[in-house]
Parts: sequence; structure tokens; C-alpha cells
Amino acid sequence: MCGIVGYVGNREASPIVLSALRRLEYRGYDSAGIAGIRINGAEKNENFQIRRCEGSIDRLKDLLDTQPMVGTTAIGHTRWATHGRPSEKNAHPHRFRDVVIVHNGIIENHKELRQELIKKGHRFDSETDSEIIAHLLDRLIRETGDFEKSCRTMIKRLEGAFALAVLWSHDPDNLFVAKQGSPLLLGRGEGENFVASDIPALLEYTKEFLILNDGEMAFIEPSRIRVMDFSGKLIQKKTQRINWSLAMAEKEGYDHFMLKEIHEQPRVLQDSLRGRIVPGFKNVIFDTIDWKAEKWRSFSSVSMVACGTAWHAGLITKYWMEQIAKIHADVDLASEYRYRSPVEFPKTLSIAISQSGETYDTLAAVDEAKKLRHSLLSITNTVDSSIVRRTKNVIYTHAGPEISVASTKCFTAQLMNLALVTVKLAQARRAQSKAWIAKFLKDLSSISRQIEKVLKHEDKVREIAKKYANYNQYFYLGRGISYPIALEGALKLKEIAYINTQAYSAGEMKHGPIALISDQWPVVCVAPNDRLFPKMMSNIEVVKARSGKIISIGTEGHKTLENASDDFLPIPKVREELSPFLTNIYLQLFAYHMAVLRGNNVDKPKNLAKSVTVE
Ligand code: F6R
Repeated sequence: MCGIVGYVGNREASPIVLSALRRLEYRGYDSAGIAGIRINGAEKNENFQIRRCEGSIDRLKDLLDTQPMVGTTAIGHTRWATHGRPSEKNAHPHRFRDVVIVHNGIIENHKELRQELIKKGHRFDSETDSEIIAHLLDRLIRETGDFEKSCRTMIKRLEGAFALAVLWSHDPDNLFVAKQGSPLLLGRGEGENFVASDIPALLEYTKEFLILNDGEMAFIEPSRIRVMDFSGKLIQKKTQRINWSLAMAEKEGYDHFMLKEIHEQPRVLQDSLRGRIVPGFKNVIFDTIDWKAEKWRSFSSVSMVACGTAWHAGLITKYWMEQIAKIHADVDLASEYRYRSPVEFPKTLSIAISQSGETYDTLAAVDEAKKLRHSLLSITNTVDSSIVRRTKNVIYTHAGPEISVASTKCFTAQLMNLALVTVKLAQARRAQSKAWIAKFLKDLSSISRQIEKVLKHEDKVREIAKKYANYNQYFYLGRGISYPIALEGALKLKEIAYINTQAYSAGEMKHGPIALISDQWPVVCVAPNDRLFPKMMSNIEVVKARSGKIISIGTEGHKTLENASDDFLPIPKVREELSPFLTNIYLQLFAYHMAVLRGNNVDKPKNLAKSVTVE
């Protein structure tokens, strides 16, 4: 967790670092800070200036307004607390004598290093694992008198995950960065260079990026960047041009990023499909995967791992894989998979699903699948993220940056790509006829237009949210492919509206949860007109008989459901496998409007962060 930024160049550094930090706030907002080196005219008097505070970047901005900084080199940090509670004392940057650092990740051997340094007389100011880095490096520099050599020695002593940016007051134009397990990239400018945890943070300043791999570090000066491995061997890195516009990373007039991202979904699906369906709906192509049909045919099972919303995408895919591709499929919570001693199963295709590509549990589950010699494939939205480096075979969701902590468009894009993978397997296994595949792909291609129709009902969703805004507990029910959508809708309401939700397969209600039904628990029913609709309808009747209030999402023109519901939201008629794309949109909008009505910080819900890079 946490976001880091650095700048060396010829402009005032603090406004640049501050604006880049704002774009990283989704990575954590427990505290924020910035450190620069003061320059008096042409003189460099070797003094650090540090401003840090508990809370968000807005508070850091206020601090900088009252205590401005000057200077052309700075590093900054926005924190999601791991070791040490959120406070000014635990906020980065951390300084020890002539060294100041910002860190994202966890130093696993920090206790041993701390003890070692305490024995040598060091005293620590914070409870963080990160502070030891400043102490260790300053000590090494004092021993050797050499900044770069000491950085190389220091980096070898650190165990765990880190993305680091470091300044030494005696060499103010030389910023040291290193990466192991946490994201970090470099931005190239004219007479200035940048560092940040992700691409959108720097898009305002550059489109030219150098992506660091694990085990790489760099010394960054205004007019040169030297990348090397941890032993100090220079590495020639190619600059990559990233053509995301800054506008793509901004709100475009919506009140919140989440709402913007919900409305982007039709476009995102078109981008996801672009170039992937052969004209005439004959085939699916992934240009990033070079497996031949025999390879796709060789799999006898699919094992998916993911967390949270991405796990829900996996649950839906299990239905598709089994019904469409006729292949055994499992989906695990990544945090469970690695500890449940999965048995080696030959010819397994292991699919890791992660928007950020940085989720610690998912990465660990990928490592576990690797040990089982599974063939690995990842679905991610983040170019050059850690998952990409672990899995070689990658399908990018092409959803553009997702800023809101609650995932919406990336979930939908994951579903689209997982549907395409299902088709690829179905074709290789000859599980469906050519005509069936062509029709399915055609229907998949038109789903973005159907989403546009659902989005037109936003006013109705807002009215329903107003009506139910004061209820503090909700049931979400679904069956079959709509059950994971009930789980996903319930998660959204929980995480951004802070409302207690219980999601069940509707068939399970009679086994216990129905005891809770009363007129105090509105029941959100995901009930498209599919094979299981008659069963779902009986479950709804049982809830109604116990005074439950029914908000239902069903197929347009379906009077039986509409008449049985207190409130009804219609989706266009669509083939049963694809209803999740549509029913979910209503649940996203419902959670969004409930959160707004309750005055919550929609894009940055409390206690959460966008990338969960800790276990
Ligand atoms: C919920 C949400 C989270 C993420 C989960 C996995 O709205 O966004 O549940 O889905 O933390 O994140 P990624 O997909 O980045 O691995």
C-alpha cells in the first residue's frame, strides 16, 4: 500500500510532487508528507525541509500553504498504515541525519535491523518498519563516504517488499530509487525526471516511462537516469510511451470517479473487445498470448484465484466455463488458496484475476500455482504490474485507470475478457458448434449497447435509493449466475455506503438466514428471466410472506416479478449467460447513490485502499 513520488529537475519540486500525490491518494490516505532540499539562490545549504501530517493530501496542501518549501528536488508519500497507527510521527518521509526516505511495502526484517541499530546507539522516532532504512543508509554513508555505494550495500540488507525513494542532503540532484515487490516507475522529461508508484500520477508531466522490474534500482538526476540491478550492473531500459490522456484519469465532470467509471463501462467493453473478435464472429484472438489451439485443448481443468470483486468475476466465470466450455472450473479466494495445500492436478489452466496486478494474496496464489506446474494466465488492468512479470501470459482489460477504490468498470472488463477466454476454451474443446460460438460472440459484442440502456434508468435508481436510505441492513439474493452478482452488489453497498449486507444464494435462505427477515430488511433480488427464475420467484414469495420489502432487478416486461416487487428495475432481454453484465450496473448505481445520500467519501471509503499490497 502507499504511494510514492519523486522529482529532480529545474522547476519548483513541491507543487509537482503534491499534484502527483493527489493522483495516488487511492493507494492510501492515512497520512501524507513531502521532503525537499532547500536551495538558497545558487547555494545549496544541505538542509532538508519536511512537511508531513496525519490525514489526506488536502491537509498537506494546507501545511505547504502556511510553510512553503523551495527547491528543485523532492520526494513525497501518501500512506496506508501497516506498521504503526496513522499519525504525524509515523508519516513519511522519514529522516535520519543526512538521509530522507519514502517507502511503500513492508520490510520483513525490520525488527532485526532495528535491534542491530539500537545496539549501535540509534534512537527511532516512529513505529514504522520504514524508518530503519534512513538510519541504515546514513550509517553506511558515514562509514564509506560514498552515497551510491552505500545505497547498493543497504539494498542487499532489506528483506520483504519495497519501493523506495531516497535523498541524501550532500548530493541534492541525485535521487535514489529501488524496487522489490512494490510498484515503481520512472518518468522521463526534458532536464527533469520523475518517479511514482503508477502511471496516472505522472501523466500531467510526461508520457515517457521506464518501468522498473523487481531487483532493479536507479539513480535519477535532472538529465540522466542510470538503472542497474541490485549488484550495481547497469541495465539498458527502453523508454515506453504511454498514450493515456490525462483526461482519462480525471473525473470528466462527474461528481465522483466512481460515477464516471460506472458510466464509462460501455466504452470500456468496446475497448476490451477491440481486435479480439475476428470479423464474422468466427474466433477470438489475444495478441499477448501465443498458445496454439492444441495448447488450449490440452487443459482438463481451470483454477481461478482472485480477491474481492475480482473473485466475484471468477465465480461468474465458473458458470461459463462449465456450461459453455464444458470444462471443470474452480475459483478460490487467493488468501485461502495458498494455505489450503491445493493438490497437483495435471493440465490445469490457472487464471489470476487482479485489476491492480499488485494484490499480495493474488501474487502469492500465483506463486503457489507455479509450484503446482499449472499453466499461468493473468487478467489485469495494469501494464507491467507485478502479476504481469509473474505470469508471462497476460490479458489486459484495457479499462484505463480506475481511480475509485470500489471497482466497477474493471470488474465488467474482467468479465468480458473471461467470457472471451471461455470461448477460446469452448472452441478448442469443440464444446459448442461454430454457429453457437458466432451467435454468442455477436451477443457479447452488443452488450455494451444494452448497458447504455440500463444506465438511462439512473434517475429511477436514485429515487429508490432515497426511499430506502434509512435502512441499516439489506439482504441480497440471486441464484445461479446471479448469485455472484448478489455477492458483488452486497460488497459494493457495504464498502462505500457502510451498510450491513448479507448476500445469499436464494435457495439457502430457508436454511437459516430467513429467521432475520422482517420489514426492517429490504431484500434486493437479482432475478433475470432465466432457467432458475421460477425457483427464484418462489424464494421471493417466501420473503414477501414474512413482510420483507422487495427491490428486484429483472427482465423488462416481466409482470410476475414486477407485481411481486415493491420496486422493480428492468434490464433489456438478453441471453441468460450475459445477464450479469446488466444486473450488476443497477447494483453499482444503487450503492453509489446510497453512499452519496449518506454523505460518505465515495471514492475513498474509510479503511480501504485501492491496491492491497500486504497480506
Ligand atoms: C471492491 C474492490 C476490491 C478488489 C480487491 C482485489 O470494490 O475493489 O474487493 O476487487 O481488493 O483487487 P485487485 O483486483 O486489484 O487484485
